[in-house]
Amino acid sequence: MTVYELQQKILEQKKEKDICILAHSYQAREICEVADFVGDSYALSVKAANVAQKTVIMCGVRFMAETVKVLSPDKRVILANPDAGCPMAEQMDKELISAMREANPDYAVVAYINTTTELKTVCDVCVTSSSAVKIVNAMPEKNIIFIPDINLGTYVSEQCPDKNIKLVHGGCPTHARMTEAHALEAKAAHPDALLLVHPECRDEVVKHADYIGSTSGIMDFAKASDAKEFIIGTENSIVEHLQYDCPDKKFYPLSKDLVCHNMKLGTLPELLLCVNGEFGEEILIDEDTRLKAKSCIDKMIEYGG
Ligand code: 13P
Ligand code: SF4
Repeated sequence: MTVYELQQKILEQKKEKDICILAHSYQAREICEVADFVGDSYALSVKAANVAQKTVIMCGVRFMAETVKVLSPDKRVILANPDAGCPMAEQMDKELISAMREANPDYAVVAYINTTTELKTVCDVCVTSSSAVKIVNAMPEKNIIFIPDINLGTYVSEQCPDKNIKLVHGGCPTHARMTEAHALEAKAAHPDALLLVHPECRDEVVKHADYIGSTSGIMDFAKASDAKEFIIGTENSIVEHLQYDCPDKKFYPLSKDLVCHNMKLGTLPELLLCVNGEFGEEILIDEDTRLKAKSCIDKMIEYGG
């Protein structure tokens, strides 16, 4: 079957079966084209709480599907590719965070949404890359432990100087691979281009950026900018999406190694199988865990607006 034929079948079947397809913006172009909604982690979370259809298929990584189930427990939530995990989400466990809480009783624990549902049960507030600064500033607590991304945490600390933020050593293996040398080389190769980076990149990369933001933030900035050339410091699918969306502008990857292999696992033929109930994994979360994790995500939406 061609890409077009597969897409037509998926569109037909999802309508007939009352299915909503959510896709993170790191997904392949052909998957985004058949999704009901494409966005960054924050926008997907807000959308997840308000889906009308009975079944939701998440084209993204596991924590994103878990967030949908936590917010919409009555929906059937399917992770399109069961092997798609986020390595950062699994870097810490409940025991470690509980021990940190005991050692720091006057600190609130802020969890990046790239964490497991289990881990969220022992945290106070969730944030995403697009909402972290706003949420941390809006929190009444001054003392904060920020988990698990040391790079996003460093960026938030710099943007929230009134807060006392303790960081832990975790992060995204894809973004953390980028070094200052990548930033300098890309800028030398494209001297007229603006550098747009995700805050999961190291501080040594972020300090050279003209814009720092989430996946959607980077796309919105590039679309609205008068500049004509951009170096993109996040997963390379964003380079491709922007090339489609802005054919009059030029986009270059910060590095060809900026690839999230987990996000790349999903394919269109598999998505058709998912829509037909022959592939994917249904996300199930026990009610006690769900409610504890929900409080953390609810606070994110309350503070994030
Ligand atoms: P966004 O919050 O920008 O969607 O980022 C999620 C993510 O996993 C980035 O690597
Ligand atoms: Fe996780 Fe990094 Fe992939 Fe984002 S890019 S899903 S943080 S591994």
